[in-house]
Amino acid sequence: MGVMIALVLAVCGVTGSPTVTFRPETASTDVPADPNIVPQMAKNTEQEQLLVIEVPEEDVMETGELNPNQYPAQRAAKVVQHYLNTRHGSPFKLFGLQRVHGGNAEDVADSGRKYQLEITVHEIISNAAQKCSVEVLFPRGEKQRSADVQASCEELLKINTTAQEQALYEQFKTNKSLVSAQYLPDSHGHIEPQNKPLWHLGIVASSFVMLKESSENSLYNMAQVVNITQQATEDDHLKFDCHTLLHELVSQEIVPWKLLFTWSPAEGVKVVQMEQLPHCHECEKPPNSD
Ligand SMILES: *[C@@H]1O[C@H](CO)[C@@H](O)[C@H](O)[C@H]1NC(C)=O
Ligand SMILES: *[C@@H]1O[C@H](CO)[C@@H](O)[C@H](O)[C@H]1NC(C)=O
Ligand SMILES: *[C@@H]1O[C@H](CO)[C@@H](O)[C@H](O)[C@H]1NC(C)=O
Repeated sequence: MGVMIALVLAVCGVTGSPTVTFRPETASTDVPADPNIVPQMAKNTEQEQLLVIEVPEEDVMETGELNPNQYPAQRAAKVVQHYLNTRHGSPFKLFGLQRVHGGNAEDVADSGRKYQLEITVHEIISNAAQKCSVEVLFPRGEKQRSADVQASCEELLKINTTAQEQALYEQFKTNKSLVSAQYLPDSHGHIEPQNKPLWHLGIVASSFVMLKESSENSLYNMAQVVNITQQATEDDHLKFDCHTLLHELVSQEIVPWKLLFTWSPAEGVKVVQMEQLPHCHECEKPPNSD
């Protein structure tokens, strides 16, 4: 229960402060004395080390040269992480935003707003990082469309995880019982080593949702895989049913989604169905708390 109370406190405390620095790794070990430091719902040591959210939202330059630590640049850069995960993520390859160095934003007549950014992206599992130039266009229009992203971080894409993927695939494919897991990570931030690949698959699948839902007014982070269950299949793909909780940091909402996705080493992760579930009190309760 302690974690949720901290979250509620943080929501109340945020408004007065010009800067909130969010460090998941330290936040859950030392109880922060400063209510403006937002602890993560469930500790996740594999996510980005530093995420800077600036509040309040007035007096922020939204066009022209951007302050790399302010929310317009941070929100646009975060979309690149989700994009790379949807294109190249796997149980052994996971991308994160490490740092925004600089950039600019401009209105593009009729189509939206385009961000050009210099960022450092890291591949979390092999701990490799690369500075990349990226473009994110948030389209404007009645119908909300996903951001268009252009990012080629070629060095990171060369990381070859084919052998591990193939081995995991064979293991899942040949096991007589279907694999499943829940609460990744648990309320202590712990994930059993054998469940790490499932956690990574859940993150990659959730990136499809986070890419689709992201706008200039949101900042999505993965909170937890509530459960993930392998489904029987006839073809070469493995199929998983997955409930995840996403953390939208601007509204401080925890948003539950149900996903159905496939994975194979050759085809990568493909989301077949995504459904946002109603917010409910139960969903926001951290596991194992009573
Ligand atoms: C990746 O590694 C596998 C074997 O582990 C090898 O067969 C394959 O050619 C490599 N792919 C690339 C693009 O280097
Ligand atoms: C097969 O699945 C069971 C149940 O999930 C698990 O305990 C076991 O370790 C798996 N075996 C292999 C070889 O993955
Ligand atoms: C997964 O979690 C959701 C939400 O808590 C629940 O409705 C669903 O029954 C669970 N599925 C499995 C297979 O445990």
